[in-house]
Amino acid sequence: MIVEYVCSFCEKIASQIMKIPMKLYLIVFICATILFVQYHIYYPYASSEYPSDRKTPCEEILSKVTSDLPPLYIITPTYRRAEQLAELTRMSHTLMLVPNLVWLVIDDAYSPNSLVDNILRRSGIRYHYMIAPMPAQYRNKTKGPRPRGVSNRNRGLQWIRENAYTGAFYFADDDNTYDLDLFSEIRYTKRVSLFPVGLITKAGVSSPIVKNGTFVGFYDGWLGGRKFAVDMAGFAISVQFLLSRPQASMPFKPGFEEDGFLKSLAPFEPAEAELLASNCTRILVWHTQTKKNEPAWPLDYSKHNNTNLVSLKNILI
Ligand code: UGA
Ligand code: MN
Repeated sequence: MIVEYVCSFCEKIASQIMKIPMKLYLIVFICATILFVQYHIYYPYASSEYPSDRKTPCEEILSKVTSDLPPLYIITPTYRRAEQLAELTRMSHTLMLVPNLVWLVIDDAYSPNSLVDNILRRSGIRYHYMIAPMPAQYRNKTKGPRPRGVSNRNRGLQWIRENAYTGAFYFADDDNTYDLDLFSEIRYTKRVSLFPVGLITKAGVSSPIVKNGTFVGFYDGWLGGRKFAVDMAGFAISVQFLLSRPQASMPFKPGFEEDGFLKSLAPFEPAEAELLASNCTRILVWHTQTKKNEPAWPLDYSKHNNTNLVSLKNILI
């Protein structure tokens, strides 16, 4: 009697168990099929994006944090205008991803700006914030272009001469767009490296011309009889090479700043330069010019005193 009861009880339980697992098996089977199909559809795509010999950007950053990379010094001229804080915020977010970097930010101003310093400090990047105003004779010019960013860059060069021994440096304007691969390449510059800059003049790009792996000339919207017809963002220099040229500096000569600086590194010929960015076939830096904004309206203090607008007004130009 007890045995029969136990058996029928077991049968009931078994039939219940059988019902649930069948549904479960079905769900598991369908899920597995979906995953299997998805894996086979997407995996070949993913593997072509990141070939097995190439690290993803994140893996690259993580693997380099602890490794012994040559230091990279970034010299950035900047000046107070409506877009300044936005440009430096964006640029800081790029440089935050670059290991072993020192950011030399030099303001074309007579006194430091705490709003700029705040952005630099909050980025966590190793930085030095300096000032180097454009000499009055150029600032007060009424006609023709001014030598923009020259006193700033020369201040950066002075800092490097006084504080750096190895690695490389690069003049990076605050309004350009930088590919992370650029920084991985330029830090190994032995003397002078050259590479293309996108969005330059109607030519679309400024670049060394390379034929059969060799430098044969410069491609630029404006050659202007320059020995080095390059943009400021199109070259990097090794610290040791700069130290071996104590006289090298940037001239206050609009349009000829790059050429004048590279010529001041003489003896050095364009054909001796290292050609980066896969023999100058890639664009790793873009001359993106930000739209100029009109100065903000004056604030009506009779209406808005004791509001947040007073603080915001201090940030605006
Ligand atoms: C072009 C070139 O692409 C630059 O590499 C070159 O430095 C510049 O001309 C020049 O005139 O020498 P562009 O975009 O026309 O660049 O110049 P900006 O971006 O306005 O200025 C270049 C750098 O100098 C920027 O980092 C900017 O913040 C700084 N600057 C500009 C100053 O420090 N003071 C100024 O009065 C103007
Ligand atoms: Mn610019």
